[in-house]
Amino acid sequence: MTRVLFVCLGNICRSPMAEAVFKDIVDKKGMVNEFYIESAATSTEEIGSPVHYGTRKKLASVGISVEGKTARQIKREDYDKFDYILAMESRNITDILKIVGADPENKVHRLLDFSDNPRDIADPWYTHNFDVTYDDIAEGCNALIKILI
Ligand code: 4NP
Repeated sequence: MTRVLFVCLGNICRSPMAEAVFKDIVDKKGMVNEFYIESAATSTEEIGSPVHYGTRKKLASVGISVEGKTARQIKREDYDKFDYILAMESRNITDILKIVGADPENKVHRLLDFSDNPRDIADPWYTHNFDVTYDDIAEGCNALIKILI
């Protein structure tokens, strides 16, 4: 069982999208029992909030539901619980480390560090472009599944 936690600032736009897209990939490969997948925020801003409409709308257009997901903040215990803690951008890594302490087991990475073109995923809360967010996240999740299987 591989445990993956996706993390962004608010846990309403990018990381729930990554959680849903990666679950969909794993589901289509018939590997649901081999993965435990969640997402969380670095900030307290949106705790308890449902997934942002832009993320829900984009995911619905590709046949993926995020019904029932509400935002939660990453906590120190998540460092031991998960094998991979995958941030959307560099700033998230700084914030993750403030909460979990250090990263002695090298679990914390940016999602797109697994792609051929390592980079941050821009925040659609500010860009309003959920199509770009989805393309970046799909690229990262497809790169991730390749290195995990
Ligand atoms: P996310 O987007 O980190 O992709 O979920 C954001 C959501 C909320 C806020 C910032 C970014 N906020 O400031 O509340």
